[in-house]
Amino acid sequence: MVRYDPSIYHGAAVHYRYGRPAYSPRLEALLTEELDLVGSTRLLDVGCGPGTLTVRLAHLFEEAVGLDPDPSMIAEARQAAQEQGIANITWVQAQAEDLPKAAPGPYRVVTFGQSFHWTNEVRVAEAVYDILEPSGALALIVHTVEGRPVPPSPGPPPIPHAEIRALVQKYLGSTKRAGQGTAPIRTHRFEDVLARTRFGTSRVLFIPGIPDLVRDTESVLSGYFSMTYSAPHLFGDRVEAFANEVRELLRARSPEGLFWDWPGDTEVILARKLG
Ligand SMILES: C[S@@+](CC[C@H](N)C(=O)[O-])C[C@H]1O[C@@H](n2cnc3c(N)ncnc32)[C@H](O)[C@@H]1O
Repeated sequence: MVRYDPSIYHGAAVHYRYGRPAYSPRLEALLTEELDLVGSTRLLDVGCGPGTLTVRLAHLFEEAVGLDPDPSMIAEARQAAQEQGIANITWVQAQAEDLPKAAPGPYRVVTFGQSFHWTNEVRVAEAVYDILEPSGALALIVHTVEGRPVPPSPGPPPIPHAEIRALVQKYLGSTKRAGQGTAPIRTHRFEDVLARTRFGTSRVLFIPGIPDLVRDTESVLSGYFSMTYSAPHLFGDRVEAFANEVRELLRARSPEGLFWDWPGDTEVILARKLG
């Protein structure tokens, strides 16, 4: 059983939008092709973080709800929606485990963007099944590098992830941390979890990630600060020292301060409620 630790993303939310790569540009097309989004439709985005999917997909739905237990993430999400003039989203501060009460259905689509693994998966999937309309869909969306073809670099050097991770280890030790404890290690496939629920079978679809994403030094650093295992609070009063060592390393690897970021393709695991 996963117990929610409110400190996992402490200090990370303000870095998230600037530091994390976007999902595939084909995501809207895929969801529109695969799912029936016509008529009066509602979206629930669980573990919405700074509104990454909620804000991006809200225009495909009549109403959208973004749910996340972290108040700083919700604040970022609210601001993102405001900046883009999107007015059909309701924000709910709650855990996925609080469903269905926290955000009652029905929904045509329920999304989890890199957040399902933080939840008690079987129990949460069952709650999602209950709040979906008949034929509604659950979509688990993640970046996947492993096993996917790597596109050619657009020019700048790749982000030196191995060297940055070595710096994280120098400051925080070799065990991956998260909040007050250690990061959960996922050894199972989402499809196998869903097979144990009323969803039964699911389909795994891949759409191409952004092949030519170029980020600057501060954005690379923000990417690390947006991760639970290198969130700012873990470094305590050595956070600036860490940031400066990363900046120095990045300067040495790219005097122009530009890096190619390959987030991988976007993997979408789709499961439907029986019609
Ligand atoms: C990796 S971020 C993903 C943010 C966004 N969905 C995206 O695609 O970029 C994971 C999010 O899950 C949230 N989270 C963690 N535990 C959760 C839980 N039990 N229920 C709902 N959300 C949770 C975190 O607060 C965080 O905002």
